[in-house]
Amino acid sequence: MKKIAVFTSGGDAPGMNACIRAVVRNGLYHGIQIVGIKRGYEGMIDGDFEVMSSRSVSNIIHRGGTILKSARSQRFRTEEGMKYAYQNLKAERIDGVIAIGGDGTFKGAKEFSDKFGTSFIGIAGTIDNDLYGTDYTLGYDTAINTVVEAIDKIRDTAHSHDRLFFIEVMGRDAGFIALNAGLATGAEAILIPESVTNLEQLIENLEYGWRRKKTSSIVIVAEGDEAGGAFEIVQKVKPHLLNHYDIRVTILGHIQRGGAPTCMDRVRASRMGVAAVDALLAGRKGEMVGIQNNQITFTPLEKAVKHALEVNANLLKIAEILAL
Ligand code: F6P
Repeated sequence: MKKIAVFTSGGDAPGMNACIRAVVRNGLYHGIQIVGIKRGYEGMIDGDFEVMSSRSVSNIIHRGGTILKSARSQRFRTEEGMKYAYQNLKAERIDGVIAIGGDGTFKGAKEFSDKFGTSFIGIAGTIDNDLYGTDYTLGYDTAINTVVEAIDKIRDTAHSHDRLFFIEVMGRDAGFIALNAGLATGAEAILIPESVTNLEQLIENLEYGWRRKKTSSIVIVAEGDEAGGAFEIVQKVKPHLLNHYDIRVTILGHIQRGGAPTCMDRVRASRMGVAAVDALLAGRKGEMVGIQNNQITFTPLEKAVKHALEVNANLLKIAEILAL
C-alpha cells in the first residue's frame, strides 16, 4: 500500500479535523502518501483531490468542522457517479480509502467496494452516536456538551419567567443526544424515537409537576421522535395543559454540529485515525474502526449501519425518577 485517500462525508462532526490530522501523520510516519478528497463522495466523483503534507494538517486539532469539507452526495447513489469516482481513484493510483462519516457514508462505501473491490476503512464520525460497533462516535461528546450548555441557559430564563420549554435536539433516528443531555440538565421529560412517546402521560406528568409547585419545566424532544418535532408536539399538548404553563419552543439546530471538539473527541479522533491507517496497512478492509470498552475494535461496515441500536432504558428511568 503506497497511497491512501481520506475524506469526510455526511453531517460534519467536531473531531473530524483531529482525525484527518491523525490519518495524514500516521500515513506519513509509515512512508505512505496521503491524498485528501474534498466534499466527500462529490469530490471523489469530480476528482477534487489534494496531496496532504504534515503541514496541511497543522493547527486543526482544535477546530470544529472539516478542512476537507463534507457533502451528502446524490450523484454517488447513481451508477454513473460511482463509475466516475472509481476512474478517479484508479487514475490517482489510490490503494485504500479512509471514510470518516456515519451510516450514509458507510452504506455508500460498502456498495462501492462490492462493485469495484476498493479497500475501505470507515471511522465512526457523527454527532448522533447511532452506529453499532463503537461506544462513541466522533463529535457526539462535543455535541452533548454544546446541548447541555444551551439547555442550562434556557433553564435560567425558564425559571425567571415560570415557563415550560420544549427543546428540540438533533438525532434523526436516534435519541442518544436527547437522553444524555436531558439527564445531565435535569429535564422533566425526554422524548426519543427508541421509546414510545405517550403524550397523555406527558400532559399528566406536567400537570402533576404544576400541582407540586413546579413553576418551570424542560421537555427535551429528539427531532426523530415518532410523536413529531417540538412544534408539532406543542400543538398537540397545549390545549390539554389547562393554561397552567406559558410555553416556548427552542430548536437548537446546527449549533450542535459546530465548535471546538472536546478533549475526549480529540483523543478518540487521534486513536481512530491512527488505527484506520494501521488497519489498511495490515490488509483489513470493509470495516469500521470504533472504540469499545476503551479498546480499538473493528466492525463490518454493513453491521455498523444495520444493527438495531439500543439506548440504555435505565437512563430513561433515572431521568423520570429524578424529575419528580
Ligand atoms: O449528522 C447527523 C445530523 O446532524 C442529524 O442529527 C440531523 O438530522 C441531520 O444531520 C441534519 O442534516 P443536514 O445538516 O444535512 O440538514
